[in-house]
Amino acid sequence: MKSNCCFQKCINAACGATFDVREIHVACPSCGDLLDVVYDWDRAKPPKLLSAFQARWTNRRNPLDFSGVWRFRELLDFCPDEYKVTLGEGQTLLQSSPGVAAYIGAKSDSVFLQYEGLNPSGSFKDNGMAAAFSHARMVGAARVACASTGNTSASLALYAARCGLPAIVFVGSGRIAFGKLAQALDYGAGTLQIAGDFDACMRRVKEASARLKLYLMNSVNPFRLEGQKTIMYRVLEGLGWEAPDWVVVPGGNLGNSSAFGKAFMEMKELGLLKRLPRLAVINSTGADTLDRLVNQKKLTWQRGRYDRDAIAADWKWQDDTRRLPHTIASAIEIARPVNAAKCLRALEVCDGVVRSVPDSEIMDAKAQVGRYGLGCEPASAAAVAGAKRLVEEGVIDRDARIVCILTGHALKDPDATVGYHTGNYPPGKEVHGERPFANAPVPVADDIEAICAAIEAQR
Ligand code: F0G
Repeated sequence: MKSNCCFQKCINAACGATFDVREIHVACPSCGDLLDVVYDWDRAKPPKLLSAFQARWTNRRNPLDFSGVWRFRELLDFCPDEYKVTLGEGQTLLQSSPGVAAYIGAKSDSVFLQYEGLNPSGSFKDNGMAAAFSHARMVGAARVACASTGNTSASLALYAARCGLPAIVFVGSGRIAFGKLAQALDYGAGTLQIAGDFDACMRRVKEASARLKLYLMNSVNPFRLEGQKTIMYRVLEGLGWEAPDWVVVPGGNLGNSSAFGKAFMEMKELGLLKRLPRLAVINSTGADTLDRLVNQKKLTWQRGRYDRDAIAADWKWQDDTRRLPHTIASAIEIARPVNAAKCLRALEVCDGVVRSVPDSEIMDAKAQVGRYGLGCEPASAAAVAGAKRLVEEGVIDRDARIVCILTGHALKDPDATVGYHTGNYPPGKEVHGERPFANAPVPVADDIEAICAAIEAQR
């Protein structure tokens, strides 16, 4: 195995410690910062043209060629094929949406939705799990664990079930959508409902993993983010290997945005992509830490010498003021994003911006995504609501090519959807807004006259 073909490296420029790819770390043992997977590209030998990857997709008999993650394997070549795991993830499509374009206020043929809900567990997390489970197998992990707002736990539970690895997931009690909880239970993961929110789960799963030697699958695991880079390769593929003008993505723990930034950084370094897209990361106003760090506190990457104290001070301020995140978009109800630093790098690489949008706009955008024939969960719709905001602000041009990442399937959180359409949100998750796109069910008597009248009234 060419383990010298790639290694792990601390992102903190003042540290820069490196580690073998077979070591298991979720933070730099020297300084505590995040780790990256770094490649020796001469040995990994990626093709000279991105389009060379395209031919593999038709090769359905080879699971690694068919996987939307592993068909790009030379760009994430950290383990031999024998360990690679795939459940057919990444068969996701970039779809043009004139209806959503009209809603956003952009040119009709220039808005595209990358629907990651089509993955085996119904969210983009499967891209990351395919990669992280491959690493887990390579290093002989015995048990896997994560903290989750729901989708990570669903995805981890599915891949663990396929790999025959025992799984433990930490979820905030009452904090995750039922579709996601149902998946974790069904796929057989030990499910701990912690009396706390996601940030509490994250802290505790790190402690428990260190103590019990659980292999941690959250996005602090650098191998997971390698899998999530492939979402961008597929977006480029959908556009004939040209970058869009904008990629708009919801921001929670900031793994996705960090992975996208790394993908573009590497493609530029390799000369595979001349022009990079700009990146917009969208928070909910009820969980707007990144927005505050970037737009109020003006934090930037500073070539890996970013202001760590400012982040620590923000975490402390949250403690002191007892500020807790609250949003209908439960997937991004996160106040202490573990990948904040890598996201700052992504924002620099892609000349990015950050915005937050209120729950009412998220739910309106979600209804429009559904109305025009795709459907997504609330967190995903934050990308669409954010794109609309940025077009209104004039930051995104009306005729720019815009790609919104729809991170999770509509069926993940039916309570939020029914809440919007009926006006009866789940207790504690009420959203105040006019609901202009509500499509409430119509109660009708068991009577054919009344039924026909109700049908005619729908016209
Ligand atoms: N959209 C969905 C549907 C998600 O599940 C998540 C994160 C995000 C967006 C945000 O992505 O963390 O990479 O910025 N869900 C995690 C979970 C935190 O536990 O399922 P991010």
